[in-house]
Amino acid sequence: MRPETLAIRTQIERTAHKEHSTPLFLTSSFVYDSAEDMAAAFADDSLDVNIYSRFSNPSVDEFIQKICLLEGAEDGIATATGMAAVSACFMTFLSAGDHIISASAVFGSTHTILTKYLPKWGIEFSYFDMNNPEMIETLIKSNTKVLYVETPSNPGLDIIDLTYVSLICKKHNIIFIVDNCFATPAVQQPILFGADLVLHSATKFIDGQGRVLGGVVVGKKELIKQLYLFVRNTGPSLSPFNAWILSKSLETLFVRMEKHAENALYIAKQLEGHPSLNWVKYPFLASHPRFEIANQQMKNGGGILTFELKAGIEGGRKFLNSLQWLSMTNNLGDSRTIASHPASTTHSKLSEEERKAVGITPGLIRLSVGLEHPDDILEEIKNALSK
Ligand SMILES: Cc1ncc(COP(=O)(O)O)c(C=O)c1O
Repeated sequence: MRPETLAIRTQIERTAHKEHSTPLFLTSSFVYDSAEDMAAAFADDSLDVNIYSRFSNPSVDEFIQKICLLEGAEDGIATATGMAAVSACFMTFLSAGDHIISASAVFGSTHTILTKYLPKWGIEFSYFDMNNPEMIETLIKSNTKVLYVETPSNPGLDIIDLTYVSLICKKHNIIFIVDNCFATPAVQQPILFGADLVLHSATKFIDGQGRVLGGVVVGKKELIKQLYLFVRNTGPSLSPFNAWILSKSLETLFVRMEKHAENALYIAKQLEGHPSLNWVKYPFLASHPRFEIANQQMKNGGGILTFELKAGIEGGRKFLNSLQWLSMTNNLGDSRTIASHPASTTHSKLSEEERKAVGITPGLIRLSVGLEHPDDILEEIKNALSK
């Protein structure tokens, strides 16, 4: 079956009730037929039996199974949030004395873990510039264990050649982890290009309607086994309710991502050259500095675009205040179009220099393009720009 069909037809085994839609397994624990069965379940960690929903649950398993199929992964684990997925990876594969190399253009909370928490636990980090991947090899040391990237990055939409990075990681025996949140497996499958692990904030396009939080990590079986034990014992597990919602959402992922991308490309093209803007950035615009790489590894440009207002930081605030119906919120990947102004909100605590280093200019607006009619979205933006 093709991925579009697998996203819809992958389902856990039907119960005796012969339900059509997968039921929700809202249960904390599972029962046994005998004391011997119960003892056996606890004796062997690798036994395929449900014990307790912090360890495993059928609704969570269905969600993991679908993401594995869509990403081309051997196995996976699910977490309560995207940040739980990121931190579980760091804590599982890094120990005191180890070193991680990461792109500097990463989501704000990932930046906080790298710069504030890892050093506290004796783990070193080095940043490289997404636009200078040649820098990576110069940063590798004998204790480098993990290489971490987001592509496209949040919010700068920087793109890196996954094959290039994966070859460096293989040569130096480094675990290559990709945050694929902006693209989703409907647009980009980093494992095909050599990633060892792929993670998501499922809160975004995977949910697609801004309802629940969730995270997932998929990849090589031997790595997932270690992650599974970490999550099972430390507890950042995904709730069955959220997993059920997310698994249902995957049924529409492919059609949604196509429409998000179609709307985003249309709006990006229409806004390019607008007199109030310095530039418009979108992976599938020919003006994107990594347009060719984006075309090689992405099926479309995804649902996020950015533009820079000539009017700077004040202009950003004014733009948001001039919106009539478009949502002003910090989430993304929703059916409803969302505008955010990182410099005055999510990244306001950083200095201008720090913001510049991760591609956040004063007038940068991030648009998560929704599924409304593209001309309605465009009119709303143009009206706000004219004010
Ligand atoms: C690229 C990226 N990774 C990770 C996260 C964290 O996800 P969550 O909010 O589900 O913890 C986000 C959230 O915006 C994100 O954009």
